[in-house]
Amino acid sequence: MNIGIIGAGTMGIGIAQVAATNGCKVWVYDANARQVETATLGLEKTLTKLVDKQKISGEKMTEILANISIATELKDFKDCELIIEAIIENKEIKTKVFTELENHVSETCIIGS
Ligand SMILES: NC(=O)c1ccc[n+]([C@@H]2O[C@H](COP(=O)([O-])OP(=O)(O)OC[C@H]3O[C@@H](n4cnc5c(N)ncnc54)[C@H](O)[C@@H]3O)[C@@H](O)[C@H]2O)c1
Repeated sequence: MNIGIIGAGTMGIGIAQVAATNGCKVWVYDANARQVETATLGLEKTLTKLVDKQKISGEKMTEILANISIATELKDFKDCELIIEAIIENKEIKTKVFTELENHVSETCIIGS
C-alpha cells in the first residue's frame, strides 16, 4: 500500500516507521522541510538501536529506510491509497490542509486524522 503522512513530528515519523516496517511505501511531508530531515535522522538512530539490540537485522533496517521517501508538496501524494494527517493540534490549519489535499488525491483515497 502507498501511504502518505502529513507531519513529521512525534506521531508522523512513528506512523511512518510502523508502515514502512510492514512493507508499505511511505511518503512523508512536513511544512517545515528541515523537520523531515531531522525526523528521518532520528528514525535512523532508532533503527540502529534496534539493530544493536538484535531486534531487527541490518537488512531490515535498510528495507525500512528504503520504503520511506520525502514528499516536498501535497501533490506528491497523488498515488497514495491512504493518507494520515499528524500535524499540530489546530482545527483551522488541519481544515486548510484537508481542503488542499482533496485537490491532489483520488476519490478512493482514505484520509485519516
Ligand atoms: N504525541 C502524542 O503522543 C500524540 C498522541 C495522540 C495524538 N496526537 C496528535 O497527533 C498530532 C501530531 O502530534 P505530534 O505530537 O506528532 O506533534 P509534533 O508537534 O511533534 O509534530 C507536528 C508536525 O506538524 C508539522 N506541521 C504543522 N503544520 C503543518 C502543515 N500545515 N502541513 C504540514 N505539516 C505541518 C510541524 O512542522 C511538526 O513537524 C496532533 O494533532 C496531536 O494532538 C499526538
